[in-house]
Amino acid sequence: MRTLIKHVLNRTEPTDSLEVAGWVRTRRDSKAFSFIELNDGSCLGNLQIIADAGIPGYEDVQKMTTGASVRVSGKLIPSPAKGQDWEMQAGSIKLLGTAPDDYPLQKKGHSPEFLRSIAHLRPRTNLYGAAFRIRSRMAYAVHRFFQERDFICVHTPIITASDCEGAGEMFRVTTLPDEKAAKVAEDFFEKRAYLTVSGQLEGETFACALSNIYTFGPTFRAENSNTSRHAAEFWMVEPEMAFCDLAGDMDCAEEMIRFLVSEALADPDLAIFEKFVDKGLRDRLEHVVEKPFQRITYTDAVKLLEGSGKKFQYPVKYGLNLQSEHERWLTEEYFKQPTTVYNYPKEIKPFYMRLNDDEKTVTAMDLLVPGIGEIIGGSQREERYDVLLENFKHHNIDPEAYSWYADLRKFGTVPHAGFGLGFERLLMFVTGIQNIRDVIPFPRTPGNCEF
Ligand code: 4AD
Ligand code: MG
Repeated sequence: MRTLIKHVLNRTEPTDSLEVAGWVRTRRDSKAFSFIELNDGSCLGNLQIIADAGIPGYEDVQKMTTGASVRVSGKLIPSPAKGQDWEMQAGSIKLLGTAPDDYPLQKKGHSPEFLRSIAHLRPRTNLYGAAFRIRSRMAYAVHRFFQERDFICVHTPIITASDCEGAGEMFRVTTLPDEKAAKVAEDFFEKRAYLTVSGQLEGETFACALSNIYTFGPTFRAENSNTSRHAAEFWMVEPEMAFCDLAGDMDCAEEMIRFLVSEALADPDLAIFEKFVDKGLRDRLEHVVEKPFQRITYTDAVKLLEGSGKKFQYPVKYGLNLQSEHERWLTEEYFKQPTTVYNYPKEIKPFYMRLNDDEKTVTAMDLLVPGIGEIIGGSQREERYDVLLENFKHHNIDPEAYSWYADLRKFGTVPHAGFGLGFERLLMFVTGIQNIRDVIPFPRTPGNCEF
């Protein structure tokens, strides 16, 4: 039975019978034996294998170059070498697959750009292996956070006919051949269909039945913004809570971020990001967990920005969207802590947000973090039937197409609220990795759909 190297390295006792398998990171030969550093991706660490000349399979050792796959059985013994507790004395060794000279990961220190061009091989590097292990554990932590608080996981559809954000950034889904592109009635769904930008609207229907729910799935945006924080396909975590207002929504978002950051702090792979990506990472994350988050209204945030004396590239004015540079000033330079901005002007937010009593602002909230800006966007939802119908009008939305959504307000309406966390932005935040393309296995961005 094969043991993962992660478990081998954590052993407290030697053993006479061990089998491991993995990919060769490096090999050194002397006359009488070879040293092989073996990695199987279960953890950052390699297991050092010592293969004496003369063991079964040794004739193939010369072919065990960097990248080759190997299976070894033998003994685990305490290592005399510095920096490792254990090494493996091979009893027999088998070459499974060679890696010829054109294996691209021969030497260390490739640029992120080059590694993106070999996204099928980059998880074999230390840094990307760690990034994708942490991605897996953070996904598990997301489920744990909500499941432990009695939220019910709902799988909302990926193909949809509604545009939640109303921004017209949808990818169309069609089976029509090009020459019939206009004949919507002949299309598969007999109407226009798209990849979802958010599971929220369907999530709301389930919250208005099961109380607290969350979705965690892929979402798609055809926005042509080629930035380090936008992808055309990304994963979103969207809780939705019945009988909840904006304050409860902000509480939940902040508690979730704190929980997820604490989980990241306990992650065995965090150290490599601290060493090679962001020296201050651990301190920064500890600060996030220990200090209270800030909250400020949009109106006050605009006043602060106007009074900052800072030269921004984009204008700051009541009624305009906050740009990334504004968000970063608030959270990096002014508050120096994650900051929730709430009550935005209704004109710059989607139709579903609840209108405040001032009739100028809506109960929107964005949670901003240092280094990134917006990581969460959410709101209390408009639960008043008449006001929602008015909103449809203002936003040019066909009430017929959204009658199911309006029904929630007709039959047993309740105040409810929710938000969306960009999962990749969270990963950037907890690893310090600067580009969204490096925290998603196969990034999709304008002009890029390789693999
Ligand atoms: O602010 P957004 O657009 O909000 C919604 O979609 C709401 N329906 C969520 C809800 O209330 N249930 O997106 C939410 C988050 C953003 O804060 C950001 O972190 C992330 O999703 N996001 C993106 N991440 C990567 N690439 C993109 N193109 C993104 N667009 C949004
Ligand atoms: Mg947003």
